[in-house]
Amino acid sequence: MSLGPCEIFEVGPRDGLQNEAREIPVSEKVALVDRLSDAGFRRIECASFVSPKWVPQMAGSGEVLSQIKRAKGVRYAALTPNLRGYEDALAAKADEIAVFGSASEGFSQKNINASIAESLDRFVPVLEEARHLDIPVRGYVSCVVECPYDGAVDPSAVAMVADRLFAMGCYEVSLGDTIGAGTPDSIAKMLLAVRDVVPVGRLAGHYHDTHGRAMANIDASLSMGVRVFDAAVGGLGGCPYAPGAAGNVATEAVNAHLTALGYETGLDQAVIEEAAEMARAMRG
Ligand code: HMG
Ligand code: MG
Repeated sequence: MSLGPCEIFEVGPRDGLQNEAREIPVSEKVALVDRLSDAGFRRIECASFVSPKWVPQMAGSGEVLSQIKRAKGVRYAALTPNLRGYEDALAAKADEIAVFGSASEGFSQKNINASIAESLDRFVPVLEEARHLDIPVRGYVSCVVECPYDGAVDPSAVAMVADRLFAMGCYEVSLGDTIGAGTPDSIAKMLLAVRDVVPVGRLAGHYHDTHGRAMANIDASLSMGVRVFDAAVGGLGGCPYAPGAAGNVATEAVNAHLTALGYETGLDQAVIEEAAEMARAMRG
């Protein structure tokens, strides 16, 4: 019996690779994105226009976007922390962009050198510029359960940031369990608070698998009505500013799981497995 559609937003070429120690050549990143483009994803995050001093691994993002073969129906996404990043993403013809904030002050300072309030103010002009050109903007909230610097994060703090991102025009808010500290119970409590301020159809779960609970957290989110999940092929990933953050939940495992449950993802598992093998080989 079909349980309806469920989408996987592939973040491997960005969240997956940003934390790798080895300097990965642009050609390898392009080959990975091109393979992923054959799998049926509608959105692939493959670039990040951040300071190369902060995240050296993403320095070739413009080249990646200019060299990939763009498949019909796929939107190629880029992270943009500020207007400078937005302009670079635009020049590189990113199809959509993402601003990224945090529900905890400690991570916000360490990751983007700004308080939560400052970061939200910084996103407003990015959203305004993007609106003029009809460029979809996604919003991330990091540390939705726990922060590596501040400890436990209250669901109301997550709801506040999600509400602001949605109100300023983000079409979807992705909820990041950045260090994989969530449990089905804490994820459900967090979602209960966020669902009050952002329609559940505009939420995505972005779960790192540090403690092997990401799939259980996806199940908890499914039962709360979430139908979009971020994942990275090969389970790559982590954040350089989140000590202890392991990889994103692996796309191949999420797709197999959702399909077995009866959800339609529209993805080709064999192509994903091939991409996962490529991704694992790219590891430092
Ligand atoms: P700052 O030092 O406060 O910024 O950094 P600044 O405005 O003072 O500029 C400092 C330097 O950076 C200047 O260069 C700027 O030109 C340059 P300099 O004069 O020193 O040569 N600069 C830029 N260069 C390229 N692109 C830009 C840009 N902006 C300024 N867009 C800043 C502030 C936000 C730039 C910095 O903190 C930064 O780049 N942080 C990015 C951190 C990051 O990428 N983290 C990983 C992504 S978030 C994540 O992984 C979590 C997520 O997956 C969800 C989850 O799991 O929770 C999304
Ligand atoms: Mg992440």
